Amino acid sequence: MSSTDLPPYFRINPDQALADLDDPVTTTGFASIAGAARAGRDDLAGRGLAEDGQRHLRLFSTWEITRYLIPVAQAHFRRVLKQNPDLPQGQSETTGGAKWFTLDEVLRLRAFFGREGSKAKEYVPYRPKGLPAKMVAVANFKGGVGKTSTAAHLAMSAALDGYRVLVIDLDSQASMTSVFGGRVEDEWQTVFPLLARHYAKHLQLDNQRRLDRGDAPQPLDDTLTEALGITAQSLVQKTHWPNIDLIGAQLNLYWAEFQVPVWRMQGRGWKLWDALTDTLDADGILDDYDVIFIDTPPALGYLTINGLAAADILLVPVGASFLEFDSTGRFFDMLHTTFQSIEEGENLAARALGREEMAFQWDAVRAVVTRFDGSQQTEMAGLMQAYLGKTLSPHRQDFTALIGQAGEQVQGIYEADYRDFNRETYARGRETFDATYAAFKSLLLGAWRRDELAQAKAAE
Ligand SMILES: Nc1ncnc2c1ncn2[C@@H]1O[C@H](COP(=O)(O)OP(=O)(O)OP(=O)(O)O)[C@@H](O)[C@H]1O
Ligand SMILES: [Mg+2]
Repeated sequence: MSSTDLPPYFRINPDQALADLDDPVTTTGFASIAGAARAGRDDLAGRGLAEDGQRHLRLFSTWEITRYLIPVAQAHFRRVLKQNPDLPQGQSETTGGAKWFTLDEVLRLRAFFGREGSKAKEYVPYRPKGLPAKMVAVANFKGGVGKTSTAAHLAMSAALDGYRVLVIDLDSQASMTSVFGGRVEDEWQTVFPLLARHYAKHLQLDNQRRLDRGDAPQPLDDTLTEALGITAQSLVQKTHWPNIDLIGAQLNLYWAEFQVPVWRMQGRGWKLWDALTDTLDADGILDDYDVIFIDTPPALGYLTINGLAAADILLVPVGASFLEFDSTGRFFDMLHTTFQSIEEGENLAARALGREEMAFQWDAVRAVVTRFDGSQQTEMAGLMQAYLGKTLSPHRQDFTALIGQAGEQVQGIYEADYRDFNRETYARGRETFDATYAAFKSLLLGAWRRDELAQAKAAE
C-alpha cells in the first residue's frame, strides 16, 4: 500500500497540527463567533427582504388559483371577474399576459365565490360556528425531525385554504419566527408574560386565602405585576401572510425553563401546564382564529408541556430511520410519564377533597413520517406502520429538494414561485405537502364535527 492510499487520519504530524491550532478558546471567544454568525445571518436575512425592509408574499396566478385554491374552471373564473368589475381583477406583467393576484385578493375572491357560487362546491372550508379554534402542537424531543417545516407548511396550507391562522413559536431558537419574519426584542414579546400572568393570578387568589386565614400574603415582584397588564393580543404580530399571525420567540424565552419551576416551588397549587390554554382562552384568542399551530423546541421542557397541554391535535414528526423511530418511542414514554404524574398529583388532591378527577385528552395524536426517501426507507416506514398502526399518519412526507432550494428568500414550497422550477418538480414537491395537509385537515374536520355533534346533543 503506498502512503497516498492511506486513509486521511494517518500520518498527521503533531507539530503541524499544533501550528494549525488556534489559541485556547475563552468565554469571550463564543461572543465573537456569535457576532460573526449574526453578521452573516443579517446579510442572508436582508436578501429576503424588500427595499422597505418588509417581507412580501409572492403573487398567485389564475392557473394556480383555479388549480389549487378556488376549485373552478379558468374560463368560469375569468367570466365571473368580468361580470363583477368590483372584484379584484389582478395584474399582468405584459398586456394580455396571465393575471396575478395577492393572497388578500384571493381571499376576497374566495369569499365572493363562497357567497354567490354554487353551494355544492367547497369554496369556504368547513368551520363550525361558535366553537373555539383548534390548537395543534408539533412536537418531538428529537431535533431536526421536521417539526418547524411541518408546522410552517401546515400553517401556510391552512391559510391558503382560507382559515385564519395563528402560529405560536415556543422554541427559543426562533426558527418559526424567522420563517414568518417576526421581530422579537426580548422575552416580553413572547408567550413568557402569559405564563407569568397565569402564575400572578394564581398568587393573587392564593394571597386572598392567606389573608382570610390571617397569614401574610406573598408579594408579587415587578415581573409578575407587569405581566398582569399584558394580553395575548398585544403579543400578536402580523406577518407577510394576510391570514397568518404570529406570537414569536427569541433566545430569552429559554429563561422560562428556569423561571417556571421556581414559581411552581413557591406556589405548589399552580397548574403551570394550563397557563397557555387559560390565558389564550381568557383573552378570546380562540374566537379570533380557526387554527393555532404551536411549534415546540426539541425538548420536553415546561414550554413544550404547556404547548402539549394546550393542544387538541398533537403531531409528532419522525424520519423513517431506526434512530428516529427509537427516539420517538421514548418520547411517547416520556409523554406518558409526564402527564400521568401531573394527573396523579392533581387527582390525589381531588380525591381527598371529593372533587371530580381530571384527565388530559387530545382529539388526535399522529406520528408523521417526514423527509421520506422512497428509494431507501420504504421497508423501515412499512415496519413503523406495522407497529404504530393508526397512530402513524398514512401519508409520508417526501424529502424534497425544493425546501432546501427555497433558501433564505422564501420559506418552503408555498412561498416559492412555480416559474422558478420545472413544473413537474414543482407539482411533485407541492403534492407531498398538499397530502400532508389533507391528512391533517381530515383530523381537524373530524374533531370539529365531533364537537359540533356533541354540542347539538347537549342542546337537545
Ligand atoms: N420534506 C423535507 N424535504 C427536505 N428537507 C426537509 C424536509 N423537511 C424538513 N427538511 C429539512 O430538515 C431540516 C430540519 O427540519 P426542521 O427545522 O423543520 O426540523 P425541527 O424538528 O424543527 O428541528 P429542531 O429540532 O431544531 O427544531 C431543515 O434543514 C429542513 O429544511
Ligand atoms: Mg424546529
